[in-house]
Formats: sequence, structure tokens, C-alpha cells
Amino acid sequence: MLAGGSGTRLRPITYTSAKQLLPVANKPVLFYGLEAIRDSGITEVGIVVGDTAPEIQRVVGDGSAFGLDVTYIRQDAPLGLAHAILVSRGYLGDDDFVMYLGDNFIVGGITPFTRQFHRDRPAAQIMLTRVPDPRAFGVVELDAAGRVAGLEEKPEHPKSDLALVGVYLFTPAIHDAVATLKPSWRNELEITDAIQWLVDTGHEVSSAVISGYWKDTGNVDDMLEVNRLVLEGLEPRGTVDDSCEVIGRVVVEEGAIVTGSRIVGPVIVGRGTRVTGSYLGPFTSIAENCVIADSEIEYSIVLRGASIRGVRRIEASLIGHEADVTLAPKVPNAHRLVLGDHSRVQISS
Ligand code: TTP
Repeated sequence: MLAGGSGTRLRPITYTSAKQLLPVANKPVLFYGLEAIRDSGITEVGIVVGDTAPEIQRVVGDGSAFGLDVTYIRQDAPLGLAHAILVSRGYLGDDDFVMYLGDNFIVGGITPFTRQFHRDRPAAQIMLTRVPDPRAFGVVELDAAGRVAGLEEKPEHPKSDLALVGVYLFTPAIHDAVATLKPSWRNELEITDAIQWLVDTGHEVSSAVISGYWKDTGNVDDMLEVNRLVLEGLEPRGTVDDSCEVIGRVVVEEGAIVTGSRIVGPVIVGRGTRVTGSYLGPFTSIAENCVIADSEIEYSIVLRGASIRGVRRIEASLIGHEADVTLAPKVPNAHRLVLGDHSRVQISS
């Protein structure tokens, strides 16, 4: 399970937090992956960690809460997906293994893929999905017979629209491939190069185009989209007081207080959060211990401890831990901002 990386696309959130712990419907994205692994029958998980190791270790612990036996594998710098295999060599020994990217989200789990791998046991088994713009992905070209012919990492001129999904199954043959790699132009050991080596040296690399939903939650738009999808399946629970209007699926966790507000689900409100005189619109997740007062927010994710007061209206936003968003005084009519490095703000006036 890869939970290192630099997370540049999610700055400034990733300056202080691991992107794999960003919540989807108030649960870290990493947990969905760990659960999918456990549900496939795997019990031993090595989590590759970088600078955010302490945070991930604190949250996942020894894995027993997931029914897993977790070992942490330190990667000193995010030198690529194949580098993560290299640093895991001792842990993996000569076992077959799944490599799962910790910020990836797959609906329906991985059990069908691990079963297929057990049955056929190719040197590598990859999953593909069609994407509208493959330039941001590992791209795979198949030959006329549907066999893997070539792989390229984030190509400028993609040869197909088939992107690599972030779950790979390998036999120990991958270690021979990784041992041959040189850093790419972006100074990473590329997993696409390692799989290409397997193809070129006559190993069997099987692929399947998945029809189910897959997303890499590496940027804000994709985070919001995955959050939307998961919230759609929400089972309503919890209560609000009589001064509220609630429409659709809404979860109000224990210890959250919601008064004088209109909530149009799907929406989740975390423990200890207080919502007053506000509108919470569809596809919104508010984490624990937040304050939302006299505000309107929709299609957004608000992280632990943030407060939003007197602001109409926020949409398609990711608000960081303990962030404070308030209304400026009427005079002077100006925006007053204290933004972290690499923040992105769109002002509507
Ligand atoms: P990416 O999202 O491809 O890379 P990144 O985390 O560096 O993000 P960005 O492109 O925004 O800078 O990584 C996929 C997953 O693999 C993610 O969970 C981080 C993890 N990873 C590692 O653990 N080690 C690595 O060396 C790399 C590159 C990624």
C-alpha cells in the first residue's frame, strides 16, 4: 500500500497532511483501500510511508482495527512507484503481492482481480480504464490480440485512451524488472518502465479493462467527485432539531448540533460539529469539530476543526483543517486573505 509521495497537486493541504488521509464522506481515502485489501482475503500489508509517516502510523496503527497485520516501510524520498517496490524488497521476500496506490478509489473492491491472478498467475496483472484525457496517467497500448504492447508514463501524445488503474498484481519477477531501471526524466523509477521490461523480456503481463468506477483522488476536483459518489450511497442517521428542514439522505453524527438550518442531502456532518442558520447543499462532507454559522455551502469537503461564518456561498471547495473563513467588514470593501503557499482562491465578485 503506497502512502508516501509528495502530493503536489493537493497543496497546500499536503504541506501539513497526508493526502491518503483526506476524508471521503468523512473517512480517510486510505481506509477504503485497506478494507478492499482485507475483503480480498489478504492479511499482511506493508504500507510505504514518507514524510507523513507519523500521521499515517497514528491513524492506522498495527492494522488490527482493519483485521490486518500492518508493517511500515520507510521510503526516504518519493522516487517513484517502482522505487516503492525496491524499498519493500525485504518485506515482500519472494511472495506474490498487490501494489495499491493509497489515494486511489475503486468501487467494488479488488477481489475479482486477486482471484483472476491466483488462477492465471501471470508475471504482472494490470487494470485499465478508459479516460477522456490520458495525458495525466500511465497509458497502455494493446496489440491487435489485446495483449499489452507498450506502456508510457504521462505521455504528451498518448497512443490509447487506456489508463493504468492504481492496483497492480505482481509475482517476484517484478523485482528483476525494477533492478534494471534508471530514473526517468522526472527522476522517478517508473512502474510503467518495469512492466515494459517484463513485456520486452517475454513475461506474461495480463490486463483487464474495468467497467466499474475508479478515480485517483490526487487533485481537488477528483476528491470532490469521489466524495459525491460515496455520499450518494449514504444511509441516513442521526437527528436535527425541529428548527431545521432536511431533504434527502443526511447523516448527523453523534455529538453534532444542527439548528435553524436547511440541509439538502446527501450530506454528512461529523462529531462535535455545530451548524447554525446555514444551508448545507448536496454532496457536502463536514468533518468533526467544525463550525458552520450563517453560511451556505454545497459540493464541498470541510476538514476537521474548520469554521465558516457569514459566508454565502461556497461551492466546489476543499477547506483545510482549522481553516477560518469569515465575512470581511463592509468597509473597506476588500478581500482579506491569509493563504498558505500554493493555495488557490477564486473570488466571485
Ligand atoms: P502520485 O499521486 O502519482 O504522486 P504524488 O503523491 O507524488 O502526487 P503529485 O503528483 O500530486 O505530486 O502517487 C500515487 C500514490 O503513490 C500516492 O498514494 C502516493 C504514493 N507514492 C509513494 O508512496 N511513493 C512514491 O515515490 C510516489 C511517487 C508515490
